[in-house]
Amino acid sequence: MNSKIKKATFEEIAEDLNSLDTDTVLVVVDSRVWQHYGESFQKEPLNLLNLKNKKVHLYKTLEGETTKTLLEFEKGLEFFLEKGIHRQCHLVAIGGGATSDFAGYLASSLLRGISWSVIPTTLLAMVDASIGGKTGLNSKHGKNLIGSYHMPVNVWINEAFLETLPPEELASGRGEVIKYGFLSQEISDLFKKKAKLSQVIEACARKKEEIVAKDFRERGERVSLNLGHTFGHALEKIYDLPHGTSVFWGMALIFKLWGNSDHLELLRDFEKGIGADFGNPPWLNKTFPVDKIIEYVEKDKKVRNNGIVDLVTIKDVGTFEKVPTSIEKVEEVLEKNKDDLRTFNF
Ligand SMILES: NC(=O)c1ccc[n+]([C@@H]2O[C@H](COP(=O)([O-])OP(=O)(O)OC[C@H]3O[C@@H](n4cnc5c(N)ncnc54)[C@H](O)[C@@H]3O)[C@@H](O)[C@H]2O)c1
Repeated sequence: MNSKIKKATFEEIAEDLNSLDTDTVLVVVDSRVWQHYGESFQKEPLNLLNLKNKKVHLYKTLEGETTKTLLEFEKGLEFFLEKGIHRQCHLVAIGGGATSDFAGYLASSLLRGISWSVIPTTLLAMVDASIGGKTGLNSKHGKNLIGSYHMPVNVWINEAFLETLPPEELASGRGEVIKYGFLSQEISDLFKKKAKLSQVIEACARKKEEIVAKDFRERGERVSLNLGHTFGHALEKIYDLPHGTSVFWGMALIFKLWGNSDHLELLRDFEKGIGADFGNPPWLNKTFPVDKIIEYVEKDKKVRNNGIVDLVTIKDVGTFEKVPTSIEKVEEVLEKNKDDLRTFNF
């Protein structure tokens, strides 16, 4: 099943919410987003807490990534179970990717699965996280190690949310946007033309939808969306970086060590093309953290039998490549290049 993904005004979202086939809506909203928009959500035209002929239960999560824990998950489950919910309830997630990952996992677990929809409020969630039905939490051992596949029914994209997004979060979203430039010639051309962000958002969302429709369970092409993520997830934890920023640096590492200088050059071109500036690599002039990276890579979801990790790189724009590599080999390559990486700034 695919989601219905569309750009929508508050009027249109309200219309869709009111016509959901349920008498109870469970709203899960990022607390920071609620601070910014709680008042306007409660007014016409959205009137979120007073939908027609529906009860609404509102749950505010912790801000962003801090909510993706088992502890917060238990709190969320118990909050809704205490309300006395049933299997036709519909859950609506409002926030960035952390909120949709968390809320989607709640939806997939409550009563063994209730339907859900998303209103993404960050750039990263609009182009990626809200689409495709991957839900989940972090473990102390690594990112997104707990979770499920549970496709949302609707994704309502309203770009006005980006007005209050902090600049570093907008930049992080651009990291995932750049990833799509490597996966699609059409999107790479949009960067070259310096197309409007709105057009880029639409193209990325469509690209993700198309990939997921072909390969929901990530047995083929969906793997391409992990470009930059194997090292990215490790960098995110080690340097405490926003997700999309880590993906950008994860791509830089993979292109440097498993790709070629053309890809690196393109990475900087795309960065400029969409008006981003990621500055210097977080490891610049520091000891390159091989051991810590390996520690996270070993626990990555993408590691399979016999310690093989599927690294993702590209052959050309629009053609990805899966490179099955042993953890030992990854460590050997990082070790061999660690002095070079210390000063690597492309
Ligand atoms: N499920 C997937 O397919 C998928 C894909 C990519 C990323 N992800 C996940 O997405 C998460 C990152 O998502 P993100 O980048 O959206 O960050 P996020 O959800 O952590 O939000 C970032 C920050 O922005 C705030 N915020 C959100 N919307 C706002 C707005 N409109 N105005 C002001 N502040 C706002 C949040 O409170 C938070 O502090 C990671 O956990 C990552 O693993 C999931």
